[in-house]
Amino acid sequence: PSREPYKLYGQTYPLDTHSNLPPTIISKLDRGLLTHPSHPLSILRQIIQDHFASATSIVHPNPVVSVFQNFDELGFPADHPGRAVTDSYYLNKDYMLRAHTSAHEVETYRSGLDHWLLSADVYRRDEIDASHYPVFHQMEGTHVWSESELDALPALNAKLAADLAGCPLVIEDTTQISPSNPYQPSHDPRHAAQITQHLKHSLNSLIFRLFGGVAQSGGEPLRVRWIEAFFPFTTPSYEVEVWWGGEWLELLGCGVVMQKTLDLAGQSHKSGWAFGLGLERIAMVLYNIPDIRLFWSTDARFLSQFKPGQITQFKPYSKYPPCHKDMSFWLPEATVAVEAGSEAGGAGEGVTKVEAGRRVFHENDYCEIVREVAGDLVETVTLIDDFTHPKSKRQSKCYRLNYRSMDRSLSNEEVNALQDQVQKRVVSEMGIEMR
Ligand code: PHE
Repeated sequence: PSREPYKLYGQTYPLDTHSNLPPTIISKLDRGLLTHPSHPLSILRQIIQDHFASATSIVHPNPVVSVFQNFDELGFPADHPGRAVTDSYYLNKDYMLRAHTSAHEVETYRSGLDHWLLSADVYRRDEIDASHYPVFHQMEGTHVWSESELDALPALNAKLAADLAGCPLVIEDTTQISPSNPYQPSHDPRHAAQITQHLKHSLNSLIFRLFGGVAQSGGEPLRVRWIEAFFPFTTPSYEVEVWWGGEWLELLGCGVVMQKTLDLAGQSHKSGWAFGLGLERIAMVLYNIPDIRLFWSTDARFLSQFKPGQITQFKPYSKYPPCHKDMSFWLPEATVAVEAGSEAGGAGEGVTKVEAGRRVFHENDYCEIVREVAGDLVETVTLIDDFTHPKSKRQSKCYRLNYRSMDRSLSNEEVNALQDQVQKRVVSEMGIEMR
């Protein structure tokens, strides 16, 4: 079948046998979760950025990179499994959706930045379960120093080590420099050791900042584990895990930047470290978010739970469909209406009452009746229209009652019966007249 070339971010990408970008993925490209102020991933990004206060922070919008940037430049061999069309999303044989934020390392070093954080959406074809989704978010962080600046590292490390010594944190690190995880031949081993120390202190301190404040059962100190790893673009390389919920949770990969990467960026005189962390993985445990698909929710019940600068526990809500019914009515003549949350009127003081000779309609009274009828099957009651007749001065209101069960789908008949009952009771108890 003849298909149109991909048109993305003002570029046209002719199709070939590599092209494998489905519409479901294309529809995710412009969601911008990382810059949505009350999205948990964006809040977590901000918290990490605040921790590395002296770093330049970038949110990189365009996920299209060359295959060269994503793989070759970083030293991935030609037969690396990540290159397979079954594992990555290709526009064609030369362009793909970045599979990791490391794809931007060379260009960012090239711009001359020495200490930066780069956050972005990344794309991988993967299994389907509660913690895997073909689009997720990573943050790359690095710190590099020119030859002469490296002399400052011992003092910086002493300061970081002293700060960490005051934290209730157990660091389990039995890693060693060895032929399987060596310093780079072009590095002075004393410099490489200082960079590695600085990397470890910086990340231990970040992890303590993120996880140390969240209460754990038994009040045990936080445990962090360093294990040897392999990445084609760092050596020595590590993975860092945290003991959480009774198991080791992998947080990030990191290491001393391969000198070739800095050479390609025209920064041969510099050396330093880099890490890449998965934001969903961390956000899921910190916020207690049980399913990775929730990050893509546009439901206000999800987004309204999160506040900038804070990590709060997610309160689950129903996945069953809602069913809303509107109710319009006239208030009795000469009625004063009081909205919920207002000072006047006295919530919970019973049904419509008379005040200084005038009836008072209080929203809380209305809601009370709704609750008595529908119990937890009602999710929200919202005033959607409020109108005063120009001649008669009679006031009318329309409320939208949204019904939803936490554990089953409600039938339309059942919801109609509830709505009917609410109507009968408010008519008889509040003296209102249905429109
Ligand atoms: N890009 C690596 C990944 O996605 C993580 C990483 C980043 C490792 C930087 C080392 C240095 O797994």
